[in-house]
Amino acid sequence: MSRTLAPGIQLQVVSAAEFAAAAADLVQAVVQRKPDAVVGFPTGDTPLPMYHELLRRQQLGAINLSSLRAVMLDDYLGATGDDPVSFHNWLKRTFFDPASIDGWRLWRVPTDPEGIEAACRTYEQGLAERGGVDLQLLGLGLNGHIGFNEPGTSPDSRTHVVHLTPSTTTANAAYWDEAENVPVYGVTMGIGTILEARSIGLLVNGRRKAEILRATLLGPISPEVPASFLRRAQHVQVVADEDAAALLA
Ligand code: PGA
Repeated sequence: MSRTLAPGIQLQVVSAAEFAAAAADLVQAVVQRKPDAVVGFPTGDTPLPMYHELLRRQQLGAINLSSLRAVMLDDYLGATGDDPVSFHNWLKRTFFDPASIDGWRLWRVPTDPEGIEAACRTYEQGLAERGGVDLQLLGLGLNGHIGFNEPGTSPDSRTHVVHLTPSTTTANAAYWDEAENVPVYGVTMGIGTILEARSIGLLVNGRRKAEILRATLLGPISPEVPASFLRRAQHVQVVADEDAAALLA
């Protein structure tokens, strides 16, 4: 089922079984049109099956991912170098290495606390030098965040350091042995940065995201739900499974 919610925003509701393929289709479409497309990749449970599906398609020869240029959405401040907990390393292990996306094709969110503000500006320049982002993929936080743009973030924000909310650190705690080790600072593309992408794919699955997806798509456009600002963008495809879409009727 596909439905237009606002001039720039299209909702595609699929079964849970179809979710990974529908998400992978967004990447496949952009790469078929432009093999060296600039694609922004998120981490998390939501996109994981999409990465597996993309790798499966590449193994079958149905798609060639090795020419695309990858950019990152967010990471933890201080997760430098080869820190295994960084989002960079999660993406490298999960997707970039098996997809043969060489390191030089990746533009990495800065994570070194030293000189971080200048590095955030350099990150933005790097996006511009690549001609901007062709497709930015996003998960949706339980608190409505996109990237690490927590409630209260300005829609004009650029790449910046964030003090993560308890909702986010609790959600992230599953990845850590000790709750006190979960980082409390992140670095993220800003909402303004995200909205400049030529197209955006918002991926949402599971019943626990149904309330926040409803607030994102049908509630007020407000900093309290950062994802609601996506309704100001021109080309947004929301891919939701039936559980996540349960409250949209
Ligand atoms: P999740 O995270 O995919 O692990 O649910 C989404 C997000 O917080 O952006």
